[in-house]
Amino acid sequence: MASTETVEIREIDCSQGEAVHPLSVEAGWNQTVADWQFMLQAGRGFGCVGEDGRWQASSLMLPVGERLAWISMVLVTKARRREGLGTKLLKRCLEETVASGRIAGLDATEQGRPIYLPLGFRDLYPISRWHFDGVAQSAKPIPSNIRLRPVAAADLPKLALYDQAASRMERATLLSHLSSRQPHRAWIAEDPSAAIVGFVLGREGRTATSLGPIAADNEDIAITLITKAADAGPGPFIMDVPQEHRQLSAWLAARGATSPRGYMRMARGEVVGLDDPQRLFAIAGPELG
Ligand SMILES: CC(C)(COP(=O)(O)OP(=O)(O)OC[C@H]1O[C@@H](n2cnc3c(N)ncnc32)[C@H](O)[C@@H]1OP(=O)(O)O)[C@@H](O)C(=O)NCCC(=O)NCCS
Repeated sequence: MASTETVEIREIDCSQGEAVHPLSVEAGWNQTVADWQFMLQAGRGFGCVGEDGRWQASSLMLPVGERLAWISMVLVTKARRREGLGTKLLKRCLEETVASGRIAGLDATEQGRPIYLPLGFRDLYPISRWHFDGVAQSAKPIPSNIRLRPVAAADLPKLALYDQAASRMERATLLSHLSSRQPHRAWIAEDPSAAIVGFVLGREGRTATSLGPIAADNEDIAITLITKAADAGPGPFIMDVPQEHRQLSAWLAARGATSPRGYMRMARGEVVGLDDPQRLFAIAGPELG
């Protein structure tokens, strides 16, 4: 491995969303400039610049409440791989995370996992990425005791509490951001007492609309919410579903959805419940947690 000691790590400030976006495009990822801008604003990015002034590598640390930080966008341009840049940038994010008193979590690609294992990350659970064009024709009837309605700004505090119980993440800022990206995909399910029993949010992506997070009391409600969000406008869609949700996975596969790859959710340290996605039917995205 070539020495990276002389490689300068620079902070990627929030004006750099457009400049750093080509890195995720090269990797074939779905993020838009708006995603980068949100993450750089809410978190801290680190990267390396080549002689031509372009970003050649990146990493990002996104605080998720007081106890957890999500590490993402670990990207190295193809010509600079296997030189240690990925590891160096990841370590920079970890230093930042530890200094802030937080535990690091991430969703690893197959390529990323070999870097994370030796650094003390352990597997929590596998996630499948699903691609599909729509589900409308196969919609299930809405369960009779459930009412669906669009998410309103006033719902966000309660939504954040419901989400926290399902995801174990404190992420009101993220939920507020996502609910404004595609309001027509943002739906709440309520029971007859007006208690939240599920929700879905969506956002536009570079190649597909991303549905997630999706939290729900059970799989039937999750499927109802997915149908509603997908039906609100044309696809294609991507959705990242914890593999233990077998009924939902089978439902997607029966509708022609395909899952060419997946992620491993990993953490370096203990956050109680982070390893249990029982009520989390789709994550926000590997870049967001
Ligand atoms: C994953 C990625 C960031 C690695 O960056 P990198 O700078 O090449 O990584 P490093 O040089 O620091 O590699 C560290 C170690 O990880 C392992 N590793 C890295 N890439 C690997 C691969 N493709 N297959 C097997 N092991 C690999 C090796 O052990 C390597 O050490 P070695 O080169 O001495 O054998 C880069 O391949 C990339 O951008 N991939 C596409 C995007 C992606 O998947 N990012 C990870 C998101 S979780």
